[in-house]
Amino acid sequence: RRPIIFVTRELPSLAQRRLESLTTVEVRQHNSNTAITRSQLLSGTKDADGLICLLSEKIDQELLNSSPKLKVISTVSVGYDHVDIPALKSHGKVKLGYTPDVLTDATADTTVLLALMASRKAKIGLDSVSNGKWGAFSLARGLGTQFTDKCLGIVGFGRIGEATAYRLKPFGFNRILYSASKPHDDRARPLGAEFAPLERILKESDLVCVCCPLNDKTRGMFDLDKFRMMKRSAILVNTARGAIINQEDLVTALDQELLAHAALDVTVPEPIAPDHPLVRHDRCTILPHIGSATEETRNAMGNLAIDNALAGVFGEPLKAEVEL
Ligand code: GLV
Ligand code: GLV
Repeated sequence: RRPIIFVTRELPSLAQRRLESLTTVEVRQHNSNTAITRSQLLSGTKDADGLICLLSEKIDQELLNSSPKLKVISTVSVGYDHVDIPALKSHGKVKLGYTPDVLTDATADTTVLLALMASRKAKIGLDSVSNGKWGAFSLARGLGTQFTDKCLGIVGFGRIGEATAYRLKPFGFNRILYSASKPHDDRARPLGAEFAPLERILKESDLVCVCCPLNDKTRGMFDLDKFRMMKRSAILVNTARGAIINQEDLVTALDQELLAHAALDVTVPEPIAPDHPLVRHDRCTILPHIGSATEETRNAMGNLAIDNALAGVFGEPLKAEVEL
């Protein structure tokens, strides 16, 4: 029999067309733009040799136990915090594919978008236009800040952190600091970026961009203690994962004006409730997790996820495999 690949969502159009034209495998798909339920996920994966899934699906011991034929999980994301890695590791027979590199540029672009929206108070400006509150041209009101001669802090210096630094450097920052689990001298040198502990980044940076993965070390890393270390004029941008920030503490920090603005592409939960204090806050800008959401990138992610799934079901090395 042909291997079965279960796909939990409609893919971007070009990748979807390719998926539908595959002949060496049987594709079964939850072909809908609504999220798959847990029971649909478990029953769809039960007989599958491969699974193509999203970051919103929990991949855990229960799923592994109930899908004895599974050889590969191919997530259409670079983050894999939704996957229970220890469970996968001890199971030993399922590979994990993901989609690094292809989404680096789009995600770094989104980080820049949020940084500029925050620094120029775009949320208030957009609201004023649509609410009929755009008054006479003002020399003195609605003023933002600019990045010239400021300090940029990058938290997490992987592909996305590095690409973000390259994009932001031409805005005129006079210094770039970065934190990571270890220094990356070779990649930092051309940027003139300096390795620094998180505390120093928070104390000195005018713009702090969160570009690190969510894991046990980074969960809730931004809490009230950390917000107290930041400059009151600082902007915080998060395009990584919502859970890296303690959101209750962020509300407190914004209310107490411990920082100037938070601009988030990721929240807990997603979607965040429209009446959440962060959504209502003038000094918090939120986008609906669109970091990688371009035609080019999403199709590339879909294609890479298909490549990974095909390789996995046929026992070949994955194009992009997470080292377990
Ligand atoms: C998106 O957040 C991803 O991890 O690809
Ligand atoms: C993710 O792709 C990263 O390395 O930043």
